[in-house]
Amino acid sequence: MNFQLKTLGLAAAERSACDLLVVLFAEGQATAQDKISLLLAQALKAGDAEAKAGKTLFVYRPAGLAAQRLVLAGIGAASAAEVRKAVAAAMGQAQALKVKRLLLCFASTPDAAALRAAVTTVADASYVYTHTHSKPQPRTLQAVTVGVPESRGLKPAFARATATVAGVELAKEWANRPGNHATPTHLAAAARQLADGERIRAEVLGPREVAKLGMGAFMAVAQGSEQPLRFIVLRYNGAAKSVAPTVLVGKGITFDSGGISIKPAPEMDEMKFDMSGAASVLGVFRALAELRPALNVVGLIPACENLLDGRSVKPGDVVTSMSGQTIEILNTDAEGRLILCDALTYAERFKPRAVIDIATLTGACVIALGAVRSGLFSADDALAGALGRAGEAAQDLCWRMPLDDEYAEGLKSRFADVANVAGRPGGSITAAKFLQRFAGKLPWAHLDIAGTAWRGGAAKGATGRPVGLLLEYLLGPEAVR
Ligand code: BES
Ligand code: MN
Ligand code: ZN
Repeated sequence: MNFQLKTLGLAAAERSACDLLVVLFAEGQATAQDKISLLLAQALKAGDAEAKAGKTLFVYRPAGLAAQRLVLAGIGAASAAEVRKAVAAAMGQAQALKVKRLLLCFASTPDAAALRAAVTTVADASYVYTHTHSKPQPRTLQAVTVGVPESRGLKPAFARATATVAGVELAKEWANRPGNHATPTHLAAAARQLADGERIRAEVLGPREVAKLGMGAFMAVAQGSEQPLRFIVLRYNGAAKSVAPTVLVGKGITFDSGGISIKPAPEMDEMKFDMSGAASVLGVFRALAELRPALNVVGLIPACENLLDGRSVKPGDVVTSMSGQTIEILNTDAEGRLILCDALTYAERFKPRAVIDIATLTGACVIALGAVRSGLFSADDALAGALGRAGEAAQDLCWRMPLDDEYAEGLKSRFADVANVAGRPGGSITAAKFLQRFAGKLPWAHLDIAGTAWRGGAAKGATGRPVGLLLEYLLGPEAVR
């Protein structure tokens, strides 16, 4: 979609032709003498408009305005969270009215996070999946102009916002694609497409190379599938070689049937989303390609299917991971940690400044945190703090979970160094404790996105999370004007 940032006060906005003009106004917005401000003052006085975020007032063919329709949307104190709420409400109307040209005007110049929230919320609401439809319905919204009284200082924030949109949309696209249209081989091709022969390079390992590396845990998961596994290595080099990279590891289970520990049939289709972590890594690289920041990032994606077959790994089987640790696979449905543990061992070779794995890892995390916040696990306070703040700034929230050693008790095995499951209590934490053994001494964090990566039900679809959080973490906080 086409986004544009313009210096546009409300006086100028009244002359701008568009299908819908959304005016975002905060509490205590100073009144001016232009038509929109006067209308807003009247509506506020009459109690028809409210500055509270999420409250909107719709006006059809507003007198004296070039816009066909007008929505006055309150944004409270103009925080990113409030702007997101307001724009989501306004977008509900825009979508229902099939708006093609949208003009979104801030009555007062927003900060970087609020501007980003506006852009990403518009994109989020207007995204449509088309890949496997015979007669794709194109996106109705075509052009979005964001008007601010003073645009100069906001150019970098706007560039970050539109790059984030591109990354989120790539992540959504791949996560949404059905398992037969998003195989490990397809994901590898998508990674190769991101390579530009310059700053971004992609390398793809197949079964033979992975066997040579000794990734016995990853191979065990893949062995029940006809689709060959892929281990994808993406590199973004924007800084000197001597600068330690951040490594992102994305879970790439392109379909999770549970394996021999088979899942129940209802909603099993949603396990096509089990590569959302991998999709988020692709999305981050898509944004890096656009922004070209001065840093180094490595993306690792172990990709395979988890299926049932005569060759499938069985409950009780013991495998040897790349780290040398043996693992008793008590439940073949706890496969995410098995492919991730070998990727974490592989990550060591980059001597990273931080390793972050992103995975739709446990149903228990959905029970713990629902769809609002991703689970954040890290023993490194600085890393956890930075990720938490990045989530707030990007409005892609996470919540820190504990990693007490007592949670690892249940992972003890009589037949191997470690078992791949403990009991049901604290299931998202025991999964994280399993991964932590393989992260070793690396500064490591784990994001469990099982509840946040997609929505089920009537609005079923990928969210593109946590691309926003990851980009914000990598690029660092943005200077506020
Ligand atoms: N991909 C699932 C986790 C999942 C389940 C995400 C439901 C979103 C919704 C993962 O591979 C899995 O099956 N985990 C098991 C672990 C258990 C066997 C210890 C789970 O959560 O049930
Ligand atoms: Mn599973
Ligand atoms: Zn899974």
